[in-house]
Parts: sequence; structure tokens; C-alpha cells
Amino acid sequence: MKRFRRLRTSEAMRDLIRETTVSKKDLMYPIFVIEGENIKNEVSSMPGIYQYSVDRLDEELDRIAACGIKSILIFGIPKHKNEMGTEAYNDKGVTQTAIRHIKERYPNIVVAADVCLCEYTSHGHCGVVHGHYVDNDETLELLCRMSVSMAKAGADIIAPSDMMDGRVGAIRKALDDVGYINTVIMAYSAKFASAYYGPFREAADSAPQFGDRRSYQMDVANGNEALREIETDIDEGADIVMVKPALAFLDILKEASLTYNMPFAVYNVSGEYAMVKAATQNGWIDEKKIVLENLTAMKRAGADIIITYHALEAAIWLEEAL
Ligand code: PBG
Ligand code: ZN
Repeated sequence: MKRFRRLRTSEAMRDLIRETTVSKKDLMYPIFVIEGENIKNEVSSMPGIYQYSVDRLDEELDRIAACGIKSILIFGIPKHKNEMGTEAYNDKGVTQTAIRHIKERYPNIVVAADVCLCEYTSHGHCGVVHGHYVDNDETLELLCRMSVSMAKAGADIIAPSDMMDGRVGAIRKALDDVGYINTVIMAYSAKFASAYYGPFREAADSAPQFGDRRSYQMDVANGNEALREIETDIDEGADIVMVKPALAFLDILKEASLTYNMPFAVYNVSGEYAMVKAATQNGWIDEKKIVLENLTAMKRAGADIIITYHALEAAIWLEEAL
């Protein structure tokens, strides 16, 4: 008889043979910065997650530093939105101002800037709209301007989440042309048109005003296409590739991480967070155990970086577990 239970007899024995461990060094924490003053708004569908104005951001930054989280992903919400999302590439825009502030206060925190137009456009789509169609190639130019503006503000990582074709190559060239050769590109490569983004659209005020994102984000049914998207982003110069969302797409992450010898990120998205919080508030699950189980599964499936709204609480729980 094969006695697998022999290696499960004590905590110390289980520790000794454990294949996967999550560390707070793996975690990246998303933050929402809103234009204005003295704002701290809780996102109703994401308990514990707030929109902060830059003047209130230190409260959150100090919490991040105290937990020992060393990387963040920043989303900005401008006061004024328009058809072309011009605040996205305004060097004095809310996101750029926040990045400069963070880099001044905590120069060692790795700052990733989400690059997409949907938080900045009046129609809420991720690119330039003609009629009801999002124009790919015109959008590329704006994404390039936005990326350079974020890099100039001090972003260490540019994270394009728009799903336009050719954006990684275009952004790489735009950054290199102005000398930002060391700015990292973390591409949202296999980003699916998912219902799990619902709560985020409240947090980032970025819901599309008509239609949906299925003409640019991927069909959830397509695994082979996800591999082609990832391969293309690698060819175009991505430094880190991402699969998003996480839990319903771990098969993609596993296959991709076995196929490509690259750093992989996975995004544990807003809807995944909201489900855990809702069940926790009802007393239906053990939150800490569920979160650590989910994060371990993401790591086991091949993630090097886990972007998660649970990062701060998980950092504390992981410390306790030691
Ligand atoms: C912007 C963007 C979205 C997310 C990250 N960047 C929303 C979307 O594509 O509609 C989702 C993040 C989350 O749900 O936590 N394009
Ligand atoms: Zn978008």
C-alpha cells in the first residue's frame, strides 16, 4: 500500500514537504485615487477598499508600508471625463500626481500604473469610440502617451489593461524613444470579458455607458486563444504577462506558465474579493482560511505575482502563520 498519510502526520512534517508557499513579497495591492480633496469613500461592493484623494492617501500608504507590502497597482479617477480621455495623459492629472506623491514618500515601493482609458472616457470604453466601435489603432497612440506620462511621473511598471492589439509593442517603442528603457511592461495579456469585474467598475467609476467590452476583451470560453495572446505580448516585449481573472482561469495560468518561461502575474479581481467578503459577512465561511487557500492555489497554478485586494490582511495572516 502507498502510505501518503505518512507525510501528513505532524505540522512540522507537512511544513517540510509543502510544495507551494505564498509570501507577502508575491502580493501587489491595487489602490484607487480620486481627484478632489479630503475624500475617503468606501466602495460599497468591496468592504475595506476605498477611493482616496491624494491628500488622504498617506493613511493608506502607511498601512501598506506597515504590513510590509512592497508593490501597488494604481488606478486614477479624474473629475473630468471626455470622449478622448485626455486626463489619462495629462502630466498633471490625478494619477500622475498620486504617483509623484507616492514615489516621494515611499521611494522603495514598486508602483505599477494601470494603463487604460475607461476611467477617463465619458463613454467608459477602453479606447477611442467611433459610433459603437472602439478603434484599435487610434487608441494605441493615446495609450502610448498615457504610458510615457505615467513613466515620467515615476511609475516603475506600465500595466496596459485595454486589450487593444499591438499595444505592448507600441508602448515599448514609445517608452524607449524617450529613454525609459528600464520601465517594465506588465501586460494584461489574457484578460477575459468577465462578469467578475462588476465591483471594480463602481470602484473606478469605469462602467461602459453602452454595450460591453466583448469586442476587445477575450471570450471566457477560449483557452488556446489565451496562449496566442500571451505569446504575442511576449514577442512584442512584455516583461511580465498576466492572466485575469484568477480563480475561474487557473487552467489558463497553469498551461501558460508551463508553456512560457516568463514571470507570470494573476489578478484576483474585484468580484472574487466581493464574493469572499459577502460570504464572510454572512458568517458562512472562514475568511482567513479561504483567502489563504485561494492565494495558494494561484501560486500553485504558476503565479509569481498575485494582484489582490486581500494583500494587506493576507500579509498579516501570513506573518501569523509563521
Ligand atoms: C480597466 C481595468 C478593469 C480591471 C482592471 N483594469 C476593468 C475592466 O476591464 O472593465 C478589473 C479589475 C477588477 O475587477 O478588480 N480596463
Ligand atoms: Zn479599460
